[in-house]
Amino acid sequence: MKHKILVTGGVGYIGSHTTVELINAGYEVVIIDNLSNSNINVLDGIEKITGVRPAFVEGDCTSIETLRKVFTEYKGIDGIINFAASKAVGESVEKPLLYYRNNLLTLINLLDLMPEFGVKGIVFSSSCTVYGEPDENPVTEKAPIKPATSPYGNTKQVSEEIITDYIHSGVNIKSILLRYFNPVGAHPSSEIGELPNGVPNNLIPYLTQTAIGIRKELSVFGNDYDTPDGSCIRDFIDVVDLAKAHVVAMERMLEDKSEERLEVFNLGTGNGLSVLQLIDVFEKSTGVKVPHKIVGRRAGDIEKVWANPEKANNVLGWKAETPIEETMRNAWNWQMKLRERGIM
Ligand code: UD1
Repeated sequence: MKHKILVTGGVGYIGSHTTVELINAGYEVVIIDNLSNSNINVLDGIEKITGVRPAFVEGDCTSIETLRKVFTEYKGIDGIINFAASKAVGESVEKPLLYYRNNLLTLINLLDLMPEFGVKGIVFSSSCTVYGEPDENPVTEKAPIKPATSPYGNTKQVSEEIITDYIHSGVNIKSILLRYFNPVGAHPSSEIGELPNGVPNNLIPYLTQTAIGIRKELSVFGNDYDTPDGSCIRDFIDVVDLAKAHVVAMERMLEDKSEERLEVFNLGTGNGLSVLQLIDVFEKSTGVKVPHKIVGRRAGDIEKVWANPEKANNVLGWKAETPIEETMRNAWNWQMKLRERGIM
């Protein structure tokens, strides 16, 4: 029988790509999303790619009653992937309660309802932000958790602790925490991709919007870091590769492939690339120039962080496979598709 999966935030960037991979792997998907940072048309994109339109509920996961209705209406949900969360670092500093309410209440409600509705496992979207500025790179899952530098980062740390404590209480559920490094790119079909509201905070949407002329110039935040070219180093992971890891993680829990009730994996490529190197890769792989200038450092930025993904490679049997050049071309094709459709 097909497993039924609830994907919270399934219309968003990583949620939509994961929905596609779940459907491709034969899962039945139910999405709940409040559309606060996403667009309903994404469902058309998912349908075009997979031939299947997932069930969709417009609703807010901070309401336990809304969630209870979803579990009651869609009987037999076996697993949850929780993407429904706010994720802008800067905004979280200005509106901390919004972040704590959205990110923590959503998680608590889902966990609370899991035993009642017999839901076996939950995959949680965590972040490499939990490592702060790591003592050494690449970072393994054993690296110490550093004090969070923003309310957003703190919600990820606290969420991991909430799940850990809940499982330690003896409740009959499983969880896999996935710590993402920097997800970038878009589906190769250009039917879905990243669609930030307003001026992007993240590097790639700002870069592609600059390349197409929406923004005048990309600001590179700092060239005086202790790195070979002075700009920050990140581990840029293709969003489709990242999405596929969720399918493997879900299968691992539902098929009882591990004795462990709680596991944590880094999801990255294992390669660190600097901001300036990434601009160069983008220009070479697309043939499009990105006007950019060096400006001062951005407050709160980590100097360098990249993953040791061996645990995910060996234990999950998952590996990031897409070359960064292809990821950059997909990001660019997506930006051009948005222009073609008159969206941006
Ligand atoms: C941040 C969060 C991460 C979160 C992610 C998604 C931290 C430490 N990191 O990642 O947890 O999952 O956002 O929202 O909390 N840059 C520029 N110019 C720009 C934009 C970015 O030079 O216009 C640089 C940044 O200084 C940074 C790199 O590009 O060095 C990546 O930035 P960004 O895409 O915002 O992601 P992170 O800050 O790494």
